[in-house]
Amino acid sequence: MSTLLVRHIKTLVQAETQLRSVVKGSEMADLPLLHDAYLLAKDGLIEAFGPMSECPASADTVLDATGRMVFPGWCDSHTHIVFAASREEEFVSRIRGLSYEEIARQGGGILNSARRLQAASEDQLYEDAWQRLQEVIGYGTAAIEIKSGYGLSLESELKMLRVIRRLKAVSPIPIKATFLGAHAVPAEYKERREDYIRLIINEMLPAVVAENLADYCDVFCDQGFFTVEETGQILQAAARFGLKAKIHANELGYTGGVQAGIAAGAISVDHLEYTGEAEIDALQKSDTLPTLLPSCAFFLGIPYAPARRMIDAGLPVVLATDFNPGSSPSGRMSLVVALACIKMKMLPEEAIQAATLNGARAMELEKTHGSIARGKAASFFITRPMPSLAYLPYAFGTDLVDTIVLNGRVWEGPNSNKKS
Ligand code: NIG
Ligand code: FE
Repeated sequence: MSTLLVRHIKTLVQAETQLRSVVKGSEMADLPLLHDAYLLAKDGLIEAFGPMSECPASADTVLDATGRMVFPGWCDSHTHIVFAASREEEFVSRIRGLSYEEIARQGGGILNSARRLQAASEDQLYEDAWQRLQEVIGYGTAAIEIKSGYGLSLESELKMLRVIRRLKAVSPIPIKATFLGAHAVPAEYKERREDYIRLIINEMLPAVVAENLADYCDVFCDQGFFTVEETGQILQAAARFGLKAKIHANELGYTGGVQAGIAAGAISVDHLEYTGEAEIDALQKSDTLPTLLPSCAFFLGIPYAPARRMIDAGLPVVLATDFNPGSSPSGRMSLVVALACIKMKMLPEEAIQAATLNGARAMELEKTHGSIARGKAASFFITRPMPSLAYLPYAFGTDLVDTIVLNGRVWEGPNSNKKS
């Protein structure tokens, strides 16, 4: 039995006495806060929290949080952190005037990452992804989803998913794996794309499921990538294998991707830079979560998703990093929260809910993560001294995450909480 006590917390953020599974619309501004608080962890779980006047006298480990806030760890529900190489040459091409889609049409983009990944060993991919996982834990992330999608062949998609399985086995934070064979049509299938769809449905999906390598199935449903019809075929096949959908949609245009995801019962539809009334209307009539990725919009210089209209329409907005080498080479959730406030006019309270509880829900981890609640994982971070909650997105370039606690133990940096 081990206990950890945090005392004199200036503000305990997202402290729930009544459990919620998701927060929608106007509720998003109503972030539960407890001032001058304590938090007690026991055996890796949150045992108790409350006002300092009720603080227990002692614990095995005692931390003082005077002037500091405690947040539940970020829940990053959309990443691609298994990749072989960065793509800063494309970044420079875009500065010179090429668009993301033009680069993709010329064989760059996702196909560039696929060539590099196919040539990389599983061990090297694992080592690099482990380092990225450590990096984002250091930013305060306490639950993460990771996609395949740079393999684009049976062998290399399985290689990526096995890397994710190895990460899952040793990670101190929960990982959900998503199969994204339909990320781009490989060059050799350009003139016969239906054969690639058949490969995904008849060979990749059965192999992925046979090895139990994925929790979800994703498709990049967008112009120049996969059509609504192809997306429907792939997601129906995935559903027959028991895999729920989580898809990329409406990043590059009004393609019907959001509606296609909803029709397939997707947990979430992600990106949504091109969202109009029809998409909002469809989302309102569904349980599918809209996941927004503002660091991608920032990096590519594309429009930001209309978060304000979504929240005003009563939707449960989720925020994630989309950490990947092409469209969002950053896994910093606090930057995502800042961009959501600065560029999408989300209130700090709304952005924090979207990056914690709603992110957990988008990975079906809301029973164990996403808030400070009795019985949930004791995975949280203590900030540097902060004058107010809004200071976190306001001071967008400052690293305010000071001490990280994962499963009731202080995280000392890479390898400190690696499961043996
Ligand atoms: O979420 N949009 C599709 N997939 C990734 C980008 C992949 C890449 O460019 O490597 C995204 O933005
Ligand atoms: Fe993505």
